[in-house]
This record gives sequence, structure tokens and C-alpha cells, in this order.
Amino acid sequence: MTETLNNSAVILARRPEGLPTPEDFSVVTQPLTPRAEGKIRCETLFLSLDPYIRSVIAGNHLGHGIDPGKVVPGEVVARVIESDDTDWPVDTLVRCQGGWQQFSDHPSEALARVPTELSRPSLTLSVLGMPGLTAWAGMVDLAKVGPGDVVVIPAAVGGVGAMAAQLARRAGATTIAITSGPEKRRIALETLGYDHCIDRIDDDLGTALERAAPDGVSVYFDLVGDPTLTTVAQRLAIGGRVVLCGLIKDYNGDHKTTGPHPGLWITKRATVSGLVVYDYESQRQAFEAEFVPLMEAGELTANEEIHNGLEAAPEAFCRLMRGHNNGKVVISLAD
Ligand SMILES: NC(=O)c1ccc[n+]([C@@H]2O[C@H](COP(=O)([O-])OP(=O)(O)OC[C@H]3O[C@@H](n4cnc5c(N)ncnc54)[C@H](OP(=O)(O)O)[C@@H]3O)[C@@H](O)[C@H]2O)c1
Repeated sequence: MTETLNNSAVILARRPEGLPTPEDFSVVTQPLTPRAEGKIRCETLFLSLDPYIRSVIAGNHLGHGIDPGKVVPGEVVARVIESDDTDWPVDTLVRCQGGWQQFSDHPSEALARVPTELSRPSLTLSVLGMPGLTAWAGMVDLAKVGPGDVVVIPAAVGGVGAMAAQLARRAGATTIAITSGPEKRRIALETLGYDHCIDRIDDDLGTALERAAPDGVSVYFDLVGDPTLTTVAQRLAIGGRVVLCGLIKDYNGDHKTTGPHPGLWITKRATVSGLVVYDYESQRQAFEAEFVPLMEAGELTANEEIHNGLEAAPEAFCRLMRGHNNGKVVISLAD
């Protein structure tokens, strides 16, 4: 007979207004319901916190969302603890949409294997996971970054930005970080190897860009929206490529990006692409095959900010949405 387990979970207590606060969430403990036939029971080891969850809890992420009372969704690395499926035996490490909770049940088709060569499984949520794949899609597939490019990356040391910078550098480009505060500046320049760093709060962005990119910006990876988008677009080189990927400035609901006038794209002969990482899921295996060995060989840097315990998730998420995180935010539930 299966032992009765309690499940700790973080539920949405109410929809946040503006910046989220920890009071918008509640940590609850409930007995686990019996596992349905065919489902595989997983125990969360690492939970990814991502900015898009802000629109999920507002009820409007690409047409989807959750209501108060529901477990907050999120991608996790988990260990199989109960299974009748011989392809997914107990102790297999998996990646799945487990949510902000200790235990979750899934059909086998909702599970993905964590690469066995990976010495730190949390990396499959960060630099080698969805944020890393987003960076690859933006830098390599859409912008086709190469030698001589001058690449500007805001949110420069976060999950997407950290990998984007490394891909651009490996391709021979000059990299310019936009970030905030002395600690993130240090991470950008010393840990991630950006060539230049601009402080989005203390520096005048336009003036700093004139200095760092006197011949213009050839690639801009927009992770934040206005006013950064418009200021960088005004300094685009002829033939510049702009990848539109995120609107963190808008997610808290107190700002609306409108973007540069289309005339600017025309005069700069710019290529502007929209990126949704879900379109790249079929390329995930090839991405892992290329970058897991590089990570294990010490050729990539993972800039993770790890917090311990599920109860740390609400506060860590609120810090992320204020821009106070210093790297990809991951919650460790592993003992
Ligand atoms: N389109 C897609 O498929 C896709 C996939 C993944 C991620 N994204 C987007 O990519 C962006 C980066 O995601 P991430 O996971 O790598 O996040 P992250 O960089 O780890 O965290 C967000 C960062 O945004 C920066 N930021 C800039 N302006 C801000 C503001 N007004 N308020 C709060 N933060 C601000 C902050 O960094 P600084 O202090 O360094 O400026 C903050 O740390 C997000 O917009 C996300 O939604 C899109």
C-alpha cells in the first residue's frame, strides 16, 4: 500500500495589482490524492521562477492564465517516485510542468528526460533550459549574430541575457550589457565577459550607447520593452536586426510599451523579428546535444540565483518582478 504523503504547494491567493507582493500567494499543505492509473508521480527538486508567470497569474499569458486558489504553474526538475511505466522508472530525473509544489502527477508524454551527462540538473531550467533556448533562438536563429556585430542585451545577467551574451561572444561579436546596480555590473563584466556595461538607472542610455557603439548597434535583443527599446532603436546601424522577445517593463501592469515609430525601421533597413520560445521546442534536443558538453567542459557560465525551500518562492518571485534578482531564479527543494 502507498504511504499517504502531504503535498506542500504555493497557490495564488489573489490577483496582484501592479508589482506582486508575497501576500498575493499562500503556502498550503494538503494530503496527496491517490495517483491515477497511468500517471507518473514526481517529486520536485528544482523549480524555475520566470517573468511570464506574472501574466499567467494576471490571467492573460498568450490567452491563458490561472484563477486564485490554483497552484502557481512553473517548470521543474523532478525525480520519479512512483511509476508503472518501465520507460520512466523510479529515480529517473525529469523536466515537467510540475508547478510550485512538492509533488505532481503526469502522463509520460508530459515528461522530458534531464540529460544524464549534466552534473547539475538545475541547469536544465536555466542556461541549458527554456531561457537558454530562448537566447539561442534570438541570437543564433533570428539575429544570426556573427563577427563584427555589436550586440546590445538588456536584463543582461538574467536567465536569457546571460546565455545570449555567451552565444554572441562565441560568435565573435562585441557585447553591451544593460543592467542595474554595481553587483550586476560586476557579474556582467567579470563573470559573463561583456565588453561594456550600461546601468539602466544611473546612466543616460543614449549617451552611453553613443560611447560604447559609435558606429551603431547591429543587433538588439529586446527583453524589456520601452523606453529601452526606443532608445536603442534610435541608435541602430543600417541593416540592424532587432529581436523582440520580452516586455518585462509592462508585465506588472503599470506601463505600456508603444515602441519606436515604424519610419525608424524603414530608414535603418532593419529586420525586426518576434520570438516565442515554444516554437523552438522541437530543437531542444539539438540544443542540449550542442551545449551540455560545452557546459560540462567549463566553456559556459551558468548565472543562477538559487533559493532554498518552496516557501521562499513568493518572495523570490516578487524580487524578480522588481528586477532585484542577480541571475536566473531557481528554487531548490532538494535536501
Ligand atoms: N518570448 C519568449 O518566448 C520568452 C522566453 C523567455 C523569456 N522571455 C522574456 O525575456 C525577458 C528576460 O527573462 P529572464 O527569465 O531572463 O528574466 P531575468 O532577466 O532573469 O529577470 C528580469 C530582469 O529584467 C530586468 N528589468 C529591466 N527593466 C525592468 C523593470 N522595469 N522592472 C523589472 N525588471 C526589469 C532586470 O534586470 P536588470 O536589473 O539587469 O535590468 C530583471 O532582473 C523577460 O521579459 C521574459 O518574459 C521571453
